[in-house]
Amino acid sequence: MIRAVVRGFGAALPKQVLTNHDLEKKVDTSDEWIVQRTGIRQRYIAGEGETTASLGAEAARAALANAGLTPDDIDLIIVATSTPDNTFPATAVNIQNRLGMHHGFAFDVQAVCSGFVYAMATADGYIRGGMAKRALVIGAETFSRILDWNDRTTCVLFGDGAGALVLEATEQPGETSDRGILTSSLRSDGSHKEKLYVDGGPSTTGTVGHLRMEGREVFKHAVGMITDVIIAAFEATGTTADDLDWLVPHQANRRIIEGSAKKLGIPMEKVVVTVDVHGNTSAASIPLALATAAGDGRIKQGDLVMLEAMGGGFTWGSVLLRW
Ligand code: ACO
Repeated sequence: MIRAVVRGFGAALPKQVLTNHDLEKKVDTSDEWIVQRTGIRQRYIAGEGETTASLGAEAARAALANAGLTPDDIDLIIVATSTPDNTFPATAVNIQNRLGMHHGFAFDVQAVCSGFVYAMATADGYIRGGMAKRALVIGAETFSRILDWNDRTTCVLFGDGAGALVLEATEQPGETSDRGILTSSLRSDGSHKEKLYVDGGPSTTGTVGHLRMEGREVFKHAVGMITDVIIAAFEATGTTADDLDWLVPHQANRRIIEGSAKKLGIPMEKVVVTVDVHGNTSAASIPLALATAAGDGRIKQGDLVMLEAMGGGFTWGSVLLRW
């Protein structure tokens, strides 16, 4: 059968680093409070000229170079983002143009922090369905542009960045030992809208708006939702937590990551954590973490890797793949 196999990875971060100590000068907070509650020590913030599309294009170029491919080899671009350069056209089309690509097709997926998991599952469907041979799947965000920088309960949590994977259609035997995406499990429930949302939009206020969050409420639901979709992936493939080489979670908060790993019996040595340096980069956090751990040699070909995320909506989901 055809599987979508990871062929390359790449990442891009803004130039400017904003530490917790820098934030102490902007709002009434402390490095100690932020580290203890979230595990975040610093985040990257987009400067002038750096946008979701520019960071996404840089990550895409890095992923293509890592794969030994050029834009000519790609026929699909999916960008997961909630902070597009423009309301339309899609950031994916903007990136397509920046890559000098005039063939194939490109579109955005909007599932907030779960966006990359949704985009991977979507690309997998197109590849297995025969509509694409090689896809760039990009998570790119500039959440700094939708934060209320006077709200200490949210502005300390988020950062900017982008990560990308090249997925390639590859004939595999159709077994759990196959390389590529083995299964995806996606969920959403719109009744949780008020717990994490942006208070503006083209069709309501005509403005971009700012991120609003009931942190405790998000925290309360996160671990249960995350573990449910991971268990669904195990059940669909007949695998268990012991078979996993790596858990690469959405990087929202160290306590959520540790709570989920503990509930599933996954030791923290098998969990990729980058929230300390990147903060929460929403849809970019998983591909940034993947690029970090594959780049430093932790994730190797043949490793069984679980991706998971939960975010605004609520949306949540998992993707189980063999690298
Ligand atoms: N610095 C210092 N004090 C603060 C800050 C801050 N940045 N923010 C809030 N506080 C204060 C509050 O005002 C409150 O003070 P009070 O007791 O005098 O009223 C106190 O700290 C405790 O506030 P809580 O909101 O109850 O703090 P909590 O322990 O719940 O931690 C946090 C807040 C970190 C947001 C936590 O709820 C959390 O991690 N939630 C998950 C949210 C998340 O990760 N969202 C990311 C987006 S969703 C996703 O990606 C999955």
